[in-house]
Amino acid sequence: MNENLQKIEKSALMEIETTETQKELERIKVKYLGRKGMLNQILRSLKDLSLEERRQIGPQAQKIKKILEEKINLKFKTLTIASTEQQKFLDVTRPGKKISFGHLHPLSKIEEEIRQIFIALNFSVVEGPEIETEYYNFDALNIPPNHPARDAWDTFWLRSNQKEQLTIDKKQLTQSQMSNVKGQKLLLRTHTSPMQIHYMETHQPPFQIIVPGRVFRYEATDASHETNFSQVEGLMVGENVSLANFKFIVEKFLQKLFGEKIDFALRPSYYPFVEPGVDVYMKWQGGWLEVAGAGMVHPHVFKAVGYNPYQWQGFAFGFGLNRLAMIKYKIPDIRLFYSGDLRFIGQF
Ligand code: PHE
Repeated sequence: MNENLQKIEKSALMEIETTETQKELERIKVKYLGRKGMLNQILRSLKDLSLEERRQIGPQAQKIKKILEEKINLKFKTLTIASTEQQKFLDVTRPGKKISFGHLHPLSKIEEEIRQIFIALNFSVVEGPEIETEYYNFDALNIPPNHPARDAWDTFWLRSNQKEQLTIDKKQLTQSQMSNVKGQKLLLRTHTSPMQIHYMETHQPPFQIIVPGRVFRYEATDASHETNFSQVEGLMVGENVSLANFKFIVEKFLQKLFGEKIDFALRPSYYPFVEPGVDVYMKWQGGWLEVAGAGMVHPHVFKAVGYNPYQWQGFAFGFGLNRLAMIKYKIPDIRLFYSGDLRFIGQF
């Protein structure tokens, strides 16, 4: 028998025998039996040989080809059986698949934390409607119609003269709000401050409350501005409440939220519903970021709710929740919160 053919047969059988995967077997099949495989190369070169040699080698090569085909088919079946057996076998020691749990959004998380901090400081938590009347959002807060201060809150106005709109409104608004709806333009609240009015209309001092909630601004967005964000309003009214009390409360609050070593500053500011007014700034990315507006409640606001401004005084504040979350979780862009990007949300 031709020596070359013998060698080919031997090594092919060896390879078929030792292979353990179907993929590998496929490769062996191509190597020996493929169109450009070893056996076909020999068969193709027969034409260059003498008649004598052709007679001898031709049938030999054909025979080997057949043997290899059979062996490969057989091995293929054995491997198929082995792999299905393996699938049936449950290896209980293998590590399990990781199941991903749902979790709270970073804004919900920080809101909950803030609620707990203020509850521990003896504040009550109240909430109010996102649809407001012009009266609560502006007028009662000492911002009369056509006053330039309204420009500070770019507003989403609602078409309240439409029928469907009114049915929604009735469901959303409380009794006292309804009485004010008449002839009033409706809007998406631009801040949580309208809840100061609602609360004082229905409660007598002394008290201290916070109001977490969503607010809306019709303005251009950038890394620290969003059209929709969350605030936490605060209001503390009593006979001797001062700005010093406010400073103490913010300091305690920020320390509990960020740790003892915090860097914050109060700077004079202007809001029509406070006097004096301040802004709270915190260190952020090498600069200062405004995180709250605040001040002593303006006497006009007390008059609007029927309090005697000579008897009561108090402070109010409004923290931007998203900005606190940005500082706490080191988030560079406020727009990420509502981006719906799971690569972002998944990190919390
Ligand atoms: N409502 C103000 C704002 O949204 C913040 C503020 C609240 C300022 C309470 C003073 C007192 O900008």
